[in-house]
Amino acid sequence: LFGLLLWAAIGYGLGSIPFGMIWARVMGLGNLRDIGSGNIGATNVLRTGNKTAAALTLLFDGGKGVVAVLLARAMAGEDAVQVAALAAFVGHCYPVWLAFKGGKGVATFLGLWLALAWPVGIACCLTWLAAAAITRTSSMAALVAAASSTVWAILLGHGTALLLGVLLTLLVYWRHRANIARIKAGTEPRIGQKS
Ligand code: G3P
Repeated sequence: LFGLLLWAAIGYGLGSIPFGMIWARVMGLGNLRDIGSGNIGATNVLRTGNKTAAALTLLFDGGKGVVAVLLARAMAGEDAVQVAALAAFVGHCYPVWLAFKGGKGVATFLGLWLALAWPVGIACCLTWLAAAAITRTSSMAALVAAASSTVWAILLGHGTALLLGVLLTLLVYWRHRANIARIKAGTEPRIGQKS
């Protein structure tokens, strides 16, 4: 049990690094809380107009998910991997450093899947891209990709990660409550649109 708690702490620590905030600060883009949705993710960083900062945010927020899974896999067992993955996601969404007001987990979700089971990760990324191309809405693409992950996990033979996948998907939906309300109201901005 101590081992799993340790991996929960490591996963949380990694996941809680708010790379969007960090890149926005480093590149002098102002406070993300005052921009667009106020979120700390790549989508909102893109609303600053800086594509490099948005790409870096996507890469690093995804990367911390990859690192959490690969570290746990290299140093401990599959149980530790699942614990570290969930903890990294929770860390991103509820970071202690930002008074638990974190992101929506999409980049981290994709990174986690790429490391947990790369075929599922690739399928989720492609689903996100396809849904984004059609809807031009980041949150919509995220909701479609998250839901698709469980289907991909089953189809591609990664049923062992299914429980974790369902949990992550539910959390993605929970974190997108405000987006879902805006989608319903028809006021959700398109990708790159300021508000
Ligand atoms: O990655 C988060 C995205 O799905 C929505 O972000 O800033 O439009 O709420 P945002």
